[in-house]
Amino acid sequence: MQAARTLEQTECHSFSWQSSFSQKRRLMDDSGIRAILGIASRPGILSFAGGLPDPKLLPLDEISECSRTVLSTYGHAALQYGVSDGVNALAHELSRLSNRKGADCAPLNIIPTTGSQQGIDLIANAFLNQGDPIAVTSPTYLGALQIFSAFEPRYLQISCDDEGPILSDVEAALKQRPAFFYVVSIFQNPTGITISRKRGEAIVGLCHAYDVPIVEDAAYQELFYDAEPVSLRVTESELLRASGRRYEDDGRVIYLGTLSKVMSPGLRVGWIEAPSAVVRAIACLKQGTDLHSGIMNQFIAAEFLRNHADEYWKGIRVAYKERRDQAVYSVKQHLGSLAQRCTSPQGGFFLWVEVDQKIDTAQLLPISVERFGVAFAPGAPFFASHATSNAMRLSFSNLPVEMIERGIKSLGEALHSQ
Ligand SMILES: Cc1ncc(COP(=O)(O)O)c(C=O)c1O
Repeated sequence: MQAARTLEQTECHSFSWQSSFSQKRRLMDDSGIRAILGIASRPGILSFAGGLPDPKLLPLDEISECSRTVLSTYGHAALQYGVSDGVNALAHELSRLSNRKGADCAPLNIIPTTGSQQGIDLIANAFLNQGDPIAVTSPTYLGALQIFSAFEPRYLQISCDDEGPILSDVEAALKQRPAFFYVVSIFQNPTGITISRKRGEAIVGLCHAYDVPIVEDAAYQELFYDAEPVSLRVTESELLRASGRRYEDDGRVIYLGTLSKVMSPGLRVGWIEAPSAVVRAIACLKQGTDLHSGIMNQFIAAEFLRNHADEYWKGIRVAYKERRDQAVYSVKQHLGSLAQRCTSPQGGFFLWVEVDQKIDTAQLLPISVERFGVAFAPGAPFFASHATSNAMRLSFSNLPVEMIERGIKSLGEALHSQ
């Protein structure tokens, strides 16, 4: 047996943290998100890279009023531990919001999460086993791929057109019994595309036929600049009602919502809406993860939804619509035929531009930043595999209109230089 040694007697050698990390850590590649956020924050760069709300548009006065009301109404309870199921007042407000849109939602169908990023993580942990198949669109939200990839899933990729996922691809994927179909249904990150009503009905029908849950990520739902969109969650509720059934018993759509884009990302308030059996399973997982989301923030969010959201949302829709219009116009004007495809989003933060196949946008990015002072998110990291290398995501949310015009002009110059 070796005698115990003091630290002084121990030989000094370098220690490799990298080899100590778990397999899961190694599979979770964060380079795409880090690169995008790093570029987005460089001074002097006109950045279309990050999907951030404009900090100047965040509701500072409303949130400070809500904070005072919460502290005077709930006192110490607002600062105390709480339960994993979340604050009742918030579940109540969120179910009201959902019902107003036509869903069939009770507070027991809601669990608040720490941003919808945590919602995706909890869903993955609730439904996925290592190596399982999952269905995703191509492209899809990079932050979800980062979570799923830790499970080494077999990705079943579904192509999209301007109405959303292509039905023959959806059916082919569902036949392989994925754990779920994850889809950003409205003003998608990264393309800005929204699933049409008709396509949505068909997708819900297919998921019921093959008994595959839909995980609907609707992070941008409230940011509509034209007609108000209909979620798959509501489409399903309507279809269920028409056949005399209830969401609680027969729902297959698990809905992920967030206040990050329409209140404050820093408060980290999101939620999952699901049949109560799923909510209970998630509450159990959540207890092991973070006990509960911040109580104070949940109370503030409830107060904000009750008294300020409608008015505030009207205002930011006007501001972001102006930016969307400018971005679409400037792409036409300055990129012209260089943009072989450009989406026309009805809301959200993003345009998706495909350029000449010869141009690899990941290679263009450093040139565009260093020589032309403009950044974008290259398209490739938004694909689970078989990435398109000639695409880019342009986020118009965090630049005033005149900068959007200037930035896209510079982007045109960067593309012309290739
Ligand atoms: C589609 C989508 N889902 C989820 C998230 C995560 O949002 P949250 O800030 O609520 O965690 C984002 C953030 O950009 C997103 O674009």
